[in-house]
Amino acid sequence: MKTLGILGGGQLGRLLARAARDLGWRTAALDPVPDSPALQVVDEPMVGAVDDPEAAKRLARVSDVVTLEWELIPAPVLEEVAALRPLYPKPSVLAVIQDRLTQKRFLEAGGFPQAPFAEASSVKDLPHYPVVVKRRRHGYDGKGQARLAGPPDPEAAAALFAAPCVREDLVPFDKEVSVILTRGRDGRTTVFPVAENLHRGGVLHATRAPAEIPPETAAAAVELALKAARALDMVGTMAVEMFLLPDGRLLVNEIAPRVHNSGHYTLEACATSQFEQHARAVCGQPLGPVDAEGPAVMVNLMGELWEKGEPDWSLLEDVPGLTLHLYGKSAARPGRKMGHYTVVGADAVEEWLRADERLAALRRA
Ligand SMILES: Nc1ncnc2c1ncn2[C@@H]1O[C@H](COP(=O)(O)OP(=O)(O)OP(=O)(O)O)[C@@H](O)[C@H]1O
Ligand SMILES: [Mg+2]
Repeated sequence: MKTLGILGGGQLGRLLARAARDLGWRTAALDPVPDSPALQVVDEPMVGAVDDPEAAKRLARVSDVVTLEWELIPAPVLEEVAALRPLYPKPSVLAVIQDRLTQKRFLEAGGFPQAPFAEASSVKDLPHYPVVVKRRRHGYDGKGQARLAGPPDPEAAAALFAAPCVREDLVPFDKEVSVILTRGRDGRTTVFPVAENLHRGGVLHATRAPAEIPPETAAAAVELALKAARALDMVGTMAVEMFLLPDGRLLVNEIAPRVHNSGHYTLEACATSQFEQHARAVCGQPLGPVDAEGPAVMVNLMGELWEKGEPDWSLLEDVPGLTLHLYGKSAARPGRKMGHYTVVGADAVEEWLRADERLAALRRA
């Protein structure tokens, strides 16, 4: 039996490991937290930092193929892993993605539409407002970025520019969409239905698929994502986040070279999930069919919901087409993704409108 090693032990790694096991692979995962979501479910949990080359090499040695659930692992560590075992996606993909400036320049060179951007290392580099400033490295879930309506006070500016940043124009988008696709080692690619995403405070709140957009817009989004995957020589599942402007144009926001929160709906809605498809791609197995049965809505369950205790899950029992996923995290902190639920079928469309009411009901009084 072969082993798939996963760098990172969060919920993405957990769902990935479960899918890989269904394909007949053993699984190993590396994370600093022994009780992390993925370490709870893999055959070989390994405790260690994903940015520690020795720990990463230990994972590689017990694995036949290595992949990752987190794209910010330092390049030198990835190079060491890739020297020992096949690593997908390849370190060259991560080298482009990890630094927002490098990523934006790569997209620019490829002719991808995106918001005007520039390097920014101080307030002097902000010629106009409003503007969005993002740390070049180590940002996720809206962390390490600021939306500025006017010049920040010196303290805020010092905090923001403590590390190199990029600035980009604030995009007055109509909708946010993402395209999730999976590219095999042989270049064959499958694309999931285009998803529409609602963010709150920079964090994904809910996704629905298919996105409510014209078919030609969906086709254009898919074209952009396919082109990006080819240009990167991606292997595995990846997501391209885009803004849809009121005039119908699409701008690429960013690329995630991994399974993505906006693809969780595929677990219930598609013949093959984004996780299974990723495992198939990196393990060199034929990709599966990705057709969706019908519409789906996914809603994230954030730590805030646990403020007064475990939510009342019994309220979900009678909702047709609903599946609840919890990630096995022991401590619920605000801003932490604790789980999600998906509604598929006829009731999905209504769930998109009802999600807030549902979350309010789940929260203990
Ligand atoms: N230039 C922009 N104009 C308008 N809104 C923006 C802009 N950049 C980011 N946002 C909003 O903030 C959200 C998070 O931004 P972004 O995707 O760049 O950050 P992130 O930290 O990588 O987030 P995540 O990990 O959730 O993908 C976007 O989905 C969007 O809602
Ligand atoms: Mg994003």
